This record gives sequence, structure tokens and C-alpha cells, in this order.
Amino acid sequence: MLKVSNLKKAYENVYALKGISFEVKEGEIFGLLGPNGAGKTTAISILTSLLEPDSGEAYYNDKNIFSNQNWWRKKIGVVPQEIAFYEELTPIENLILWGTLYGIKNKEAKERAKELLKIMGLESKEKAKVSEFSGGMKRRLNIAVGIVHKPEVLFLDEPTVGIDVQARVKIREVLKEFSKDGMTIIYTTHQLEEAEELCDRIAIMDEGEIKAQGTLKELISGLGQETEVEFSGTFDSNIIKNKIPEISNARLVKFSEKSIIISVLNDDDIPAIVELFIKNGIHIDSMDIRRPNLETLFLKLTGKDLREQ
Ligand SMILES: Nc1ncnc2c1ncn2[C@@H]1O[C@H](COP(=O)(O)OP(=O)(O)OP(=O)(O)O)[C@@H](O)[C@H]1O
Ligand SMILES: [Mg+2]
Repeated sequence: MLKVSNLKKAYENVYALKGISFEVKEGEIFGLLGPNGAGKTTAISILTSLLEPDSGEAYYNDKNIFSNQNWWRKKIGVVPQEIAFYEELTPIENLILWGTLYGIKNKEAKERAKELLKIMGLESKEKAKVSEFSGGMKRRLNIAVGIVHKPEVLFLDEPTVGIDVQARVKIREVLKEFSKDGMTIIYTTHQLEEAEELCDRIAIMDEGEIKAQGTLKELISGLGQETEVEFSGTFDSNIIKNKIPEISNARLVKFSEKSIIISVLNDDDIPAIVELFIKNGIHIDSMDIRRPNLETLFLKLTGKDLREQ
């Protein structure tokens, strides 16, 4: 298990990390979800020994990773946000180079390189120069480079930025397979869908802090997020203003003559509202139920809309 406690890091005058703590269990895919500047890359750089923290601790299976860097570096793989290859080499040559740098033997690196090109759907490009690759192919190769030596713990920093849906889906599938085989994965993203779809647990990061963390279900239910129901029709303001507050667990969020929004704690509270409308002769044209999701939660915690990134 990777246990990170109270990591802090400041650059000249920016507090990039203000004391983040989290735990990642073996074989888990843990997502750091946050907008530009949240501190994701800083966290990954510190945990992969590229950058020193100002303070804080991190342990892998109870061994301090900052004071045992050589040991730690052998256990991890890194897929950085910025892609770095030797463009004039073929993908196989790149993989062998990185593999041997990580300390595996040439023959083993070659076998592994071939296997990885297949997994990543790049086998037909075996002999091409990397400079001829598309952005999506480079991203896939970037991941292969990070895992050529079969790391126990893999860090990926926004590995699917700027690539098409197909390549994105492929990468997610591959990562899920690795995680099933026991690899522990720490994955940063600013895409809600990606965090929802891929990660076992998610930490919501913003401005150097983790605002909440847990499984998707825990995150959504744990913060008392409410379901909002929007009714459109013709509403009598006296009835609405006097009667809605009498229904327990229902709260009037917005009101106009043609539309009202009522929040409820759970779906069981909705029939009482409909009943009230019927009893009072209120005609409803439509009803729209908006359940809490990661997007509304994110907005609530950070005041930011990730889709605008
Ligand atoms: N080398 C640096 N020198 C000064 N400030 C930096 C440096 N690197 C990052 N920062 C600042 O630290 C904060 C966190 O940056 P970081 O790159 O960790 O965020 P991020 O979550 O990875 O963002 P992005 O989604 O844009 O990659 C930002 O305010 C950034 O401007
Ligand atoms: Mg970053």
C-alpha cells in the first residue's frame, strides 16, 4: 500500500501542494482529478522522485520512499504529461532503450517491447520512426515506455490528453487489465468521465488541496448532495410557497410561474410532491429529475466547472 501524508510543496511564490494525504491499495486505480494548476503534476513528480517535497511523508508497504529512492525507483513506472522519445528511433528501439535503462536485460526488453506494441495496437508500426507517429500513437507508446519493466506501481499524468476516443478507450482497457493483474495505478486527469469510468477511488484536487476522496458512490452520497427535480407547468405561487415547505425532505430551490425546482434527499420524496400538485389541481407538463453526479459534486466543492478547462 502507498501511503502519502501531508505533502507540501511551494515554488517561489505559489503553494502548489498545501498538504495532501491519501492512500492507494495494491491493485487499485486511484484518480487525482483536478483542473489546470491543481497540483497534479507536482504530486506525481514528488512521488516519482523527480522533485523533493518541502515536507510530508510517503510510505510504500511501510518503507519510506523519499529516503529509499533507489529501491523505490525500481518499483515504479512513470508516464509523464509531456511525451519524451527518441524520434529518430523505431518504437521497438525506444522501448528497448528505456527497458535497459530501467535495468532489464536486452533480450527480455526486446520480447517485452514486442508484447507491448501488440497490447497497444502498434504492432503494424514496429518499423516506423516515432517521428512519423500520430499524437494518439505517441500517447500509446508513452504508456508502453512507462511499463516496459513491469513496475509494481504505475504513475500516469494525464495520459489521454489530445487523443481520439478510440485510443482513449484502448488505453483505459489496457490499464484495467494491468490493475486486474495486481499493478497499482495512480492516474491524473481533468476529465470527469475518465475518473468515473476508470478509477476505483478518486481524490478531487483543487489549488493544492484534496477537497474530497473516496469511491464514486461514497463521494456522491457522502456529501449530502441532493436530487433536484424540475417541474414545468402552471403554478400558483401561494400554494407552492405555503405547501412545499410542509413536505419533509423537500426544499424549494427556484420558483417561477412556469417552472419550479425542488430538491429532495432521495427519490422516495418525489411522490409526495406530485401528490400535492394533484390535490391542488396543479397541472404539470413535464418533470426532469437531476441526480447528483461527479460534475455537480465537483462544482460544489471547487466552484469550478471542469468542462470549461
Ligand atoms: N516549476 C514551477 N515553477 C513555478 N511554479 C510552478 C512550477 N510548476 C508548477 N507551478 C505552479 O504550481 C501549481 C501547480 O502546478 P501543477 O503543474 O502541479 O498543476 P497540474 O494540476 O498538473 O496542472 P495541469 O492540469 O495544467 O497539468 C500551478 O499554480 C503552477 O503554476
Ligand atoms: Mg499537470
